Amino acid sequence: PFVVTENCIKCKYTDCVEVCPVDCFHEGPNFLVIDPDECIDCTLCEPECPINAIYPEDDVPAGQEAFVALNAELSQAWPVITARKDGLPDAKDWEGKTGKLELLER
Ligand code: SF4
Ligand code: F3S
Repeated sequence: PFVVTENCIKCKYTDCVEVCPVDCFHEGPNFLVIDPDECIDCTLCEPECPINAIYPEDDVPAGQEAFVALNAELSQAWPVITARKDGLPDAKDWEGKTGKLELLER
């Protein structure tokens, strides 16, 4: 499956959700995740993210391996999102910042 990684946190642009043919994106307060049991590896979402937060599970950036389990866990708790909406208000300020995992809201 594909995995949403750290750069999405506090940005949540949601350009990724509308292309998913199996509606496997789930939305939390400041982050999205992909349900690994539903993702069919179609690859369509990956290029939609303007800040490159989506990776194949086997190609997650070094140090971000925890996001594989986080996508699996949080997709069970959060509701499905299928329609694009505006990114978070100060998303621009958070693009590309590191250390955002501790800011993840559940
Ligand atoms: Fe959905 Fe395809 Fe992205 Fe998987 S790879 S989350 S199926 S758009
Ligand atoms: Fe997040 Fe990028 Fe989608 S910022 S919500 S993974 S478009």
